[in-house]
Amino acid sequence: MQQINSKGSRDFCIKNIKLAGFGRREIELAEDEMTALMALRKAAQGEKPLAAAKIVGCTHVTAQTAVLFETLMVLGAQCRWAACNIYSTQDEVAAALAEQDFPVFAWKGESEDDFWWCIDRCVNEEGWEPNMILDDGGDMTHWIYKKYPHLFKKVKGIVEESITGIHRLHHLSKAGKLCVPAINVNDSVTKQKFDNLYCCRESILDSLKKTADIMFGGKQVAVCGYGEVGKGCSAALKAMGSIVYVTEIDPICALQLTVCLYTGNKNVVVREHMDLMKNGCVVCNMGRSNTEIDVALALIELFNAPEGRYKQDVYLLPKKLDEYVASLHLQTFDAHLTELTDEQAKYMGLSKYGPFKSSHYR
Ligand SMILES: NC(=O)c1ccc[n+]([C@@H]2O[C@H](COP(=O)([O-])OP(=O)(O)OC[C@H]3O[C@@H](n4cnc5c(N)ncnc54)[C@H](O)[C@@H]3O)[C@@H](O)[C@H]2O)c1
Repeated sequence: MQQINSKGSRDFCIKNIKLAGFGRREIELAEDEMTALMALRKAAQGEKPLAAAKIVGCTHVTAQTAVLFETLMVLGAQCRWAACNIYSTQDEVAAALAEQDFPVFAWKGESEDDFWWCIDRCVNEEGWEPNMILDDGGDMTHWIYKKYPHLFKKVKGIVEESITGIHRLHHLSKAGKLCVPAINVNDSVTKQKFDNLYCCRESILDSLKKTADIMFGGKQVAVCGYGEVGKGCSAALKAMGSIVYVTEIDPICALQLTVCLYTGNKNVVVREHMDLMKNGCVVCNMGRSNTEIDVALALIELFNAPEGRYKQDVYLLPKKLDEYVASLHLQTFDAHLTELTDEQAKYMGLSKYGPFKSSHYR
């Protein structure tokens, strides 16, 4: 049934607009957690670096991402949004966004057809054409390539935050088909360390407890892959008293895990392994994570970049912006950086204001 918000708008499709009050309270609570985004709003001091930006987005729709969407609006952007995952939408949050006239097309438990319909409703809107894409997984980008390639004439760039989406963009770039610049947010240091390592270290237990409702002390757990996500998950499970086995294919990561006193081998979970598993064994695949500030800064950077700074290629977030993200987080811990003296800066060949490390630093 077509729904309507209290201001008379129908430009959204969600489960139930009546959940808006509950969703708004969740967003307000999330604002206290999304400190860097809130600091960015404050730092803008009413300026609108995203004025005239029309962002079409496809990410999770949760209380945390809602803080991002509303930050983009505070910075001047117009947005239309769909969910990148059919299960992860918080319906009450989608309702709160719709109530604020934020065009959102997402609900928990979408079918495959619903999923693409929602994406299409974001793009295929009379009188509104996107000029920026924010994607988590590459589905929005894929849809525009497939159905509305003419829109790329106006699109200034793509910001992509997942490994999968980045692989798809590199594939397009290699085939010479990438027609706008793209920023790879996944590989920025703050995303890798915060979302992938620290956030997964927390969310693995939260999600496993909620779904499986079992005790982890003494359980034997196999973690596949010892990248940032695997490191976070292994640490959390080990801290709960589980006996953690890690599989890895890369000798460098395998060496890291042996130094950390985990047990390693070189296989991955396949059907035969499942056949061997004990009854009640839990198999879990880490989904994707919260969107934080790197994405907002990547959008500002791409949208305002002077002609020619970015070509039709996939770029990393500039180191200076990555460091800026970290500095905003530091404020919230009331942590203060040591400042290089002029002499020290000269000796090290650095600017006192960064970047402090080379772009390859992890
Ligand atoms: N849930 C979340 O919040 C979240 C956040 C970021 C990434 N992810 C997902 O987690 C996964 C890992 O992300 P990451 O950032 O740690 O990636 P990564 O590339 O840093 O690490 C993956 C590791 O897996 C290893 N590997 C690859 N194939 C393997 C195999 N067959 N067997 C054993 N090991 C193998 C690689 O060598 C690498 O060290 C991805 O699927 C990603 O989409 C989830």
